[in-house]
Amino acid sequence: TGGPLVDRYGRIARDLRVSLTDKCNLRCTYCMPAEGLPWLAGQQLLTDDEVIRLIRVAVHRLGVDEVRFTGGEPLIRPGLVHIVTAVAALDPRPRISLTTNGIGLARLAPALGAAGLDRVNVSLDTLDRERFVRLTRRDRLADVLAGLAGAAAAGLTPVKVNSVLMRGVNDDEAPALLRFALDHGYELRFIEQMPLDAQHGWDRASMVTAAQILAALRSAYELSPDPAARGAAPAETWLVDGGPARVGVIGTVTRPFCGDCDRTRLTADGQVRNCLFATEEADLRGALRAGADDDELARRWLAATWGKRAGHGIDDPTFLQPARPMSAIGG
Ligand code: GTP
Ligand code: 5AD
Ligand code: SF4
Repeated sequence: TGGPLVDRYGRIARDLRVSLTDKCNLRCTYCMPAEGLPWLAGQQLLTDDEVIRLIRVAVHRLGVDEVRFTGGEPLIRPGLVHIVTAVAALDPRPRISLTTNGIGLARLAPALGAAGLDRVNVSLDTLDRERFVRLTRRDRLADVLAGLAGAAAAGLTPVKVNSVLMRGVNDDEAPALLRFALDHGYELRFIEQMPLDAQHGWDRASMVTAAQILAALRSAYELSPDPAARGAAPAETWLVDGGPARVGVIGTVTRPFCGDCDRTRLTADGQVRNCLFATEEADLRGALRAGADDDELARRWLAATWGKRAGHGIDDPTFLQPARPMSAIGG
């Protein structure tokens, strides 16, 4: 049995996002409550060997050529360096990236680079220490900034920065965040807030839209369309003051890009999701632990992909947020 992972609309998933844990060392208000969430139990989590096996099936049989590790916060997974090493040894070798909050990255970046990690995306919503504390409920801004610098020093480039703007919280910081990114050579992307929070507190009226983000940036910078092909990237990019520096906006809600989607997802407990907003999952952990061979695992992954919906459906009157929150899907 073999790939590619094609759905009924002809989209092909070549980009695999793997969540390595649902836990996190921050408590961003738009993501989870102060007390955290009911975490997955130890025996529910895929072991390192199980994660590596499923990624191998995806790369060897299903045409996946890019693997991104996410969480929760992937840097708190003890086996991360081991897993990256094993994935980098696959033939053909996929591109390997990581999405992280940056805490601990200063210390881990050299080992991750040596293991085969190509690049990182780091979340950072504010440059103000007190705001950072209010937003993440932890006083860790300095660690995140050190993590960004450490990643760049270790060559995990391009280093991208992800910012979510919230009205009345940090929506006045768009130009300052861009100044910071330009000064350090990071590629900044702003993300529209999506209805994926554990508390179900998302509301369209208070979401800062792509259009509003662009207007705020244009008060301080000249933005021109980026001539580079976008492909399946969630971020639409602009050249800043003529380039070569760029800034991106991920406008999932107001500028959906589902028609070009090339993603498939594996959760930390071994479920395949064909979309961030999927309401159904395919249980590969159960199959794997029941003795399924690689053929059978590939078959289940293909079947799960075929049923992918055309779009996220946020605008449908019947839209229902997925039961699994962002922190357990992996973004
Ligand atoms: P690059 O390959 O560096 O462009 O990564 P990325 O932007 O795809 O990944 P990252 O983990 O940095 O995610 C940034 C934001 O994009 C997060 O809020 C993700 O949830 C969101 N995102 C990533 N993939 C998808 C997707 O397939 N659909 C939607 N709607 N959002 C996505
Ligand atoms: N909507 C949009 N982005 C979100 N992130 C977390 N929750 C949401 C949400 N509800 C962002 C994080 C991180 C990226 C992986 O996803 O801030 O930058
Ligand atoms: Fe792909 Fe679903 Fe994201 Fe749309 S919402 S881009 S289909 S993962």
